[in-house]
Amino acid sequence: MKAPPARHAPPLDRPGATDDATLAVESLTVRFQGLAAISEVSLAMQRHEIFGLIGPNGAGKTTLVNCLTGFQKPTEGRVLVGDADASAWSPPEFRRHGIARTFQAGRLFAEMSVLDNVEVTGVGLGQSRRAAQADARELLDWIGLGDKAGAPASALAYTDQRRLGIARAMMLSPAFVLLDEPAAGMSDSECEDLMEIVAAIPKAFVCGVLLIEHNMRVVMGICDRIHVLDGGRTLAEDVPAAIQRHEEVMAAYLGMEA
Ligand SMILES: Nc1ncnc2c1ncn2[C@@H]1O[C@H](COP(=O)(O)OP(=O)(O)OP(=O)(O)O)[C@@H](O)[C@H]1O
Ligand SMILES: [Mg+2]
Repeated sequence: MKAPPARHAPPLDRPGATDDATLAVESLTVRFQGLAAISEVSLAMQRHEIFGLIGPNGAGKTTLVNCLTGFQKPTEGRVLVGDADASAWSPPEFRRHGIARTFQAGRLFAEMSVLDNVEVTGVGLGQSRRAAQADARELLDWIGLGDKAGAPASALAYTDQRRLGIARAMMLSPAFVLLDEPAAGMSDSECEDLMEIVAAIPKAFVCGVLLIEHNMRVVMGICDRIHVLDGGRTLAEDVPAAIQRHEEVMAAYLGMEA
């Protein structure tokens, strides 16, 4: 793998984007017609870490990511970007404050080239085409798609589409990037290759990573801290070695694919 590019951290006048800023939720509750998808969850992640979010299917992981990116409003509790109360922010407001995410379905521009898919993000942020293209090329080289820059995005294999989604998210020079099952559907070796890239993000970009991933071996190997949800509630939050010894966590995972 190529050395990751030395990227500029987001400008410090962005509210919440200082090096020690946190992305947090406080006593977060989300109800859908009476069903509590999230119940009184609190967590705070920092820009130097990979923060794992795990839990069985339906635990509330994606709902939490939606709250942290403006796609879902809390029923109760708060979302905090640095010191700012972001509970009512729209998705573009989260992006402007340096919070990026990827989507499971990709949301790529299928007819556009791989390079253009990344470049448009930079142009959308106000970069010149030349600067956006240079950054986009650097990111594509880093993520292993440099030789496919001219191909239409629709021609990419599934795993490469997932990489392209991450490259596009990193084009925002985010303070935090939220990855919801980025390796879903990948083989073990494809997953390991991708996780090598994900592992490099905090140092290379001064960017915190929230990682949702079902493969426990991968999660335990890559995360600095892990938050465990079950039925919308926090079951545990700790370093991987402690999570692995946690009886309730292990019980919640019995019968799950790992
Ligand atoms: N828009 C919605 N309307 C109603 N219920 C929803 C909505 N979104 C999620 N839910 C419910 O909220 C709960 C949490 O769902 P969520 O998708 O956050 O779980 P998850 O941990 O991401 O699961 P998975 O591992 O399957 O991706 C589930 O019971 C789900 O059916
Ligand atoms: Mg989910």
